[in-house]
Amino acid sequence: MKKVLITGITGYIGGTVAKKLLDRNYEVTGLVRNEAHVQELESLGIKTIIGNIHNEDLIKTAVDNADAVIHNADSADDAYAVDNFIKALEGSHKTFIFTSGSAIFGGKENGKRSDFVYKEDFPLTPRLEMASRVLINNYVLQSAQKDIRSIVIVPTMVYGEGLGLKKDSIQIPALINYSKEKGAGIYFGEGENVWSNLHIEDLADLYVLALEKAKGGSIYYAENGASSLRNIAEVISKKYNLEPARSLNVQDAVDHFGPAGGYFGFASNSICSTDKARTELQWKPIYNSIENFI
Ligand SMILES: NC(=O)c1ccc[n+]([C@@H]2O[C@H](COP(=O)([O-])OP(=O)(O)OC[C@H]3O[C@@H](n4cnc5c(N)ncnc54)[C@H](OP(=O)(O)O)[C@@H]3O)[C@@H](O)[C@H]2O)c1
Repeated sequence: MKKVLITGITGYIGGTVAKKLLDRNYEVTGLVRNEAHVQELESLGIKTIIGNIHNEDLIKTAVDNADAVIHNADSADDAYAVDNFIKALEGSHKTFIFTSGSAIFGGKENGKRSDFVYKEDFPLTPRLEMASRVLINNYVLQSAQKDIRSIVIVPTMVYGEGLGLKKDSIQIPALINYSKEKGAGIYFGEGENVWSNLHIEDLADLYVLALEKAKGGSIYYAENGASSLRNIAEVISKKYNLEPARSLNVQDAVDHFGPAGGYFGFASNSICSTDKARTELQWKPIYNSIENFI
């Protein structure tokens, strides 16, 4: 049986990937920083190690005891944790699956539409604010040269109910709460900006396929559909019986969600295509309507 170490296992993506792996008889160990979650995880059949992704010695021991590592714990922007894992994995032939995020495609578009569709082989020239995220991805991919089977997955806007302890994603629940506070579905600027999206279970299936089939040094973008933020706001208005959707300034988004969330999470475009995962890994996502999960 393959032993997989997962970080962020109490979280939305990590918990769902863990469930899919348990269903396929993998032995799953979660790195958990809060002891309060241990009992609940162990009752699901997940072994636990208590600790933090910033504890180098602990990471080394945890990695030595695993066949593969899936790193989701606030992973996308944390170079310190990535460095700990690469160092611990160097020369091991082991698999390292790293979770990034598709805000790397975004500009400061302030709600205006851009139709550019990113593919994995198109060179990225990220804005300054997203440059470190792209550097981290490249560092992980290059670690394939250090005898690590490293794979980067770049999820877009993930929706649907998680299968682990945390049921909710990031963007849609945050927009729903903000919209309820304002009494109407909210979008920013023109709201014509578009994000690719995908269902959490399809994403977790992609992790399983990547673990089983991907070549070291591969990056996969993950999407199965797209929606403008204005469309999402309109669905929120209807679903939660709010006033008709309306626009706020991007500055309101920045004030409420911080600059990364405001400019990139809700007012940028992030559109990509995942033909590569479909072709190379025979990934067959089945959900294709974010509107049904708002
Ligand atoms: N959800 C999306 O739509 C989406 C889309 C694209 C990319 N991503 C990226 O995917 C990654 C995971 O996202 P998610 O939605 O699963 O997030 P999440 O539900 O907020 O989960 C984050 C997880 O990381 C753990 N964690 C954070 N800091 C840690 C530390 N220092 N040591 C140990 N564990 C730590 C948390 O543990 P606690 O339970 O102790 O807090 C939690 O288990 C993030 O990098 C995110 O940016 C997410």
